[in-house]
Amino acid sequence: MTDRYALFGHPLGHSKSPLIHGTFARECHQDMTYELIEAPHDQFAQAVSAFRASGGRGANVTMPFKLEAFALADERSERARVACAVNALKLVEGRLHAENFDGVGLVRDIEANLACPLAGKRVLLMGAGGAARGALLPILATRPALLVIANRTIPKAHAIAESFRTDNALVAGGYDDLGAATFDVVINATSASMRGEMPPVPATAFAAGCVAYDLVYGRELTPFLRLARERGARRLADGVGMLVEQAAEAFLWWRGVRPATATVIAAITVPLT
Ligand code: ATR
Repeated sequence: MTDRYALFGHPLGHSKSPLIHGTFARECHQDMTYELIEAPHDQFAQAVSAFRASGGRGANVTMPFKLEAFALADERSERARVACAVNALKLVEGRLHAENFDGVGLVRDIEANLACPLAGKRVLLMGAGGAARGALLPILATRPALLVIANRTIPKAHAIAESFRTDNALVAGGYDDLGAATFDVVINATSASMRGEMPPVPATAFAAGCVAYDLVYGRELTPFLRLARERGARRLADGVGMLVEQAAEAFLWWRGVRPATATVIAAITVPLT
């Protein structure tokens, strides 16, 4: 019987996930389907249980259900616990296992696809919501020289750093605290770009030749990426590579085989202008 996988979210409009997982499945010769399930806002748990009852094996989860998926799970990985959010589910002997591959996908895109190993680098991570929390553990695992978390609401940045007090590379604060510090990698994990805004990052934060990464993807350069370009960033990236890399991690977790990602990334990348 063909194994069923799905993406739960609302709205799911132009999701690229079926195309990504469909390509992975073909290339890895996996007998599986991947569908979109746009559950009503108050019916995520019911939708998951109907999916389980009809033979569902695993799923991705996106907005607005990432926190609810965390609560619903029987087992949560450390990454999911740190992020307090879940983007992948798997059924194992009737128990619902939860993972968060967003941060691993981001790190893999930066290190493997953008050819920028993070070890020893100075990294600025902007934002303190689920997206930033998800990125934290995978970034720290690469042993950067410094990881600064900056957030508009400063206590939220401090609260994150508080839970990682043992890691000396980690510093948290507001945008004003950045002063004239420069960074090799600047990551925008705020939701500002969705509204055409940008976080108040000082222009001096972009070291010449740095990598600037906006987790929000689209056709146009966001105000953040435009500023990075003006400041001489070497690479500008949106979240497309991260989307494909997190999908590949989930696929490996579900199916035990890691698909190649380069072709899919090339197929769905829109040149940023
Ligand atoms: P997500 O789960 O996508 O991270 P979230 O939990 O709503 O979404 O968090 C959004 C993040 O973007 C927050 O860090 C928010 O800053 P605050 O904690 O101060 O609200 C940040 N953010 C959104 N718009 C912003 C803006 N215009 N400037 C700076 N930060 C912004």
